[in-house]
Amino acid sequence: MAADLAAAGHIRSKEWRAAIESVPREEFIPEFFTKVDRADGPTLWDPTPARSGNDGWLRAVYEDISHVTQLNGEITAADVPEAIDGNPTSSSTMPSLVARMWEDLEVEDGNRVLEIGTGTGYSAALGCYRLGEDNLTSVEFDPQVAARAGRALGRAGFRPHLVVGDGEAGAPGTAPYDRIIATCSFRYVPKAWLEQSKPGTIILVTLFGWLGGTGLVKLTVTGDGTAEGRFLPGYVSFMPSRAHNPEPAVIPELSEAASSRSTSLGPEVLTTYGPAQLVAQLAVPEAQHITFGPGGDLPEHLLVQPDESYAALRGAAGTWTVEQGGPRQLWDEVERAVAEWRAAGEPGIENFRVTVTPQEQRVDIHGGTSWSLPTG
Ligand SMILES: C[S@@+](CC[C@H](N)C(=O)[O-])C[C@H]1O[C@@H](n2cnc3c(N)ncnc32)[C@H](O)[C@@H]1O
Repeated sequence: MAADLAAAGHIRSKEWRAAIESVPREEFIPEFFTKVDRADGPTLWDPTPARSGNDGWLRAVYEDISHVTQLNGEITAADVPEAIDGNPTSSSTMPSLVARMWEDLEVEDGNRVLEIGTGTGYSAALGCYRLGEDNLTSVEFDPQVAARAGRALGRAGFRPHLVVGDGEAGAPGTAPYDRIIATCSFRYVPKAWLEQSKPGTIILVTLFGWLGGTGLVKLTVTGDGTAEGRFLPGYVSFMPSRAHNPEPAVIPELSEAASSRSTSLGPEVLTTYGPAQLVAQLAVPEAQHITFGPGGDLPEHLLVQPDESYAALRGAAGTWTVEQGGPRQLWDEVERAVAEWRAAGEPGIENFRVTVTPQEQRVDIHGGTSWSLPTG
């Protein structure tokens, strides 16, 4: 696995190659769920193929795949006898992304690192190997997940500082940090991380939102509560911070008085990963996207947010109609943001900059159009 990751450019240094060659991933995923995609129903998660000792388990452990280890905030593969439906809430990240992120973090010998999202403990173990266990603090939201990670780290011979809690608060006990790395995603950069940094601290975090936009951001702390950086190239998505999931959306009364018009911007902007999706999300950060089947009374696509603003899209490719209601014209705002991004030459996400101050956090394209990130 290490040789493959190096050949593909995910491992770029001898230090991280040594860490990946040395840390036994099998200690961290003695069992996990295998994904079963189905055409006629929800994805299922099968606990049986990947059990310690089974044929194929060890091979799967060393494939470049993310392995789901918990569903719905409580169920592990050891808890159920057969495939079930569920929402993944903890996993061992795919090794290529783990390696890429450790490389992107540009650690130096002796750096003190804060990791958010201990998960199985595998990436923390790599950090311990590279920097020494006393320099590694890792925070996990879920006490059961944290306890399993602690045992796995112990089996592999590492005793880092493990904290159970919401990583949004950082870990003041071992601050300040030279580097902060998050392996779950956030809607904004938590303030506590800035407070537990020093000038020059590098922060690597995936920013996500409720319309599916996501990207890895690398920031350098510039002063008291301030940081600057940019999105890095490529698609990076992580499980959301458990505290950053939206409340279930309430479907408003789709009133007949709402405005209705045709729109040349279809829902692909919401369903296709890319910078336009990110821009749409930046324009309406409180909105959620709900889809309904074709042919019913409900629209195929609905954007809705807590103040009951909504945009309902009906139609098909090239002939979309949008109805908007509530205090904000959500689709007008999405269209305006996408038009501005197009006018700027449709830049990729690596051209999106992020600026953090104690007062606000902004994303801008090349210093042009900018949007505020939500802060709570
Ligand atoms: C993708 S997994 C982490 C992978 C891990 N680094 C590994 O090597 O196995 C994401 C983890 O973040 C945890 N998590 C989610 N929200 C969190 C939060 N606000 N603070 C700390 N951990 C959180 C989840 O419980 C989950 O275990």
